[in-house]
Amino acid sequence: MSSFLTLDHVNVTRQNVVVRLDLNIPVKNQHISDETRIVRSLTTIKELLDKEAKVIILSHFGRPKGQASAALSLAPVARILKQHLSCPVSFADNCIGEAAAFAIRHTPYGGVVVLENLRFHDGEEENSPAFAEHLARLGDLFVNDAFSCSHRAHASVVGIGDYLPVIAGRAMEAELRALESILTTPKRPVMAIAGGSKVSTKLELLTNLISKVDYLVLGGGMANTFLLAQGQDIGESLAEPDLVPQAQAIINKAKTNNCTLILPEDYVCPEESFKIMDIGPRTVTRIQAAIDDCKTIVWNGPVGVFEVPPFDKGSVALAQYIATKTQTNGLISVAGGGDTLACLNKAGVGAQFTYTSTAGGAFLEWLEGKTLAGISMLLSGGKRS
Ligand code: 3PG
Repeated sequence: MSSFLTLDHVNVTRQNVVVRLDLNIPVKNQHISDETRIVRSLTTIKELLDKEAKVIILSHFGRPKGQASAALSLAPVARILKQHLSCPVSFADNCIGEAAAFAIRHTPYGGVVVLENLRFHDGEEENSPAFAEHLARLGDLFVNDAFSCSHRAHASVVGIGDYLPVIAGRAMEAELRALESILTTPKRPVMAIAGGSKVSTKLELLTNLISKVDYLVLGGGMANTFLLAQGQDIGESLAEPDLVPQAQAIINKAKTNNCTLILPEDYVCPEESFKIMDIGPRTVTRIQAAIDDCKTIVWNGPVGVFEVPPFDKGSVALAQYIATKTQTNGLISVAGGGDTLACLNKAGVGAQFTYTSTAGGAFLEWLEGKTLAGISMLLSGGKRS
């Protein structure tokens, strides 16, 4: 990847710095269930505060489709953020216009303003130049610290760069470094583990990975379509028979690319039916032996129905094995996606991987080899003064 500017390259003292975060945190039963995205944004915020910048925070929350909605207000998220900071934190109930300008005027340097949900305005998702210009008027410099939104060509990710210089925040830097280490300049051999229920959502991913990695491990419901392609009986297991030709093409491409494809050799099913729910112990051992040969591992998607014990055993065993190898053998391990991180946490090893990405769609698109609109804007540097 070509280079981009970071907080090391600009003077932010007594500057109004607009920071795009991803505060789109998970909420269950009206309670915030995971603060990781907030916690990861603190490094950039605190550095800006230490340097006496005024920190103006932009984020979306949920998918309100251009309509203001109390349920999707960022106000509760701003209150949580405030608990992590020891400076003044204010909240404006609109991300543009007088409400935002007023809050910014009344915030001192070394203080934070959180602005209301960007997606209350149609212009955000439409990437409207007028809306982007309104956002740009909020500050002097734009910091993108939201890798997980960088696949969205939205005004607060892309359009704003037509009006302000763009640099990367510290979380963005860490994410891009981690992603480079797995597919762009990896230490080989490299293994990718791909799971999840459907091949149809992962075809581009598999097609890209097969030409980049030395081992490709498939698990979860999508592996069943590959078993079908091999002519195996999969009983009542979830599969997409119409995608058997594509699965066969991936199997063939693995052979020509010298990529070892590892499919389930044994399975775990409920007592009452032949329905594959997890990989079996022989497959776990086979994958662990391949892990022993690897220097880098990237993981997206659990290999079984990990939410329902005992079908979590395969995913948990792999997570714990990779974590141990990371801690003791210098294995580089990167995992991403909501289910995968939930699975690592269930296995008690969320903090023992080299890097875990909280990005869902953006992580997947990166692994698919796509160009992310927000990263292109970051690389361009935005508006040069
Ligand atoms: C995410 O949670 O993956 C990001 O916040 C992007 O959200 P979106 O899929 O609603 O654009």
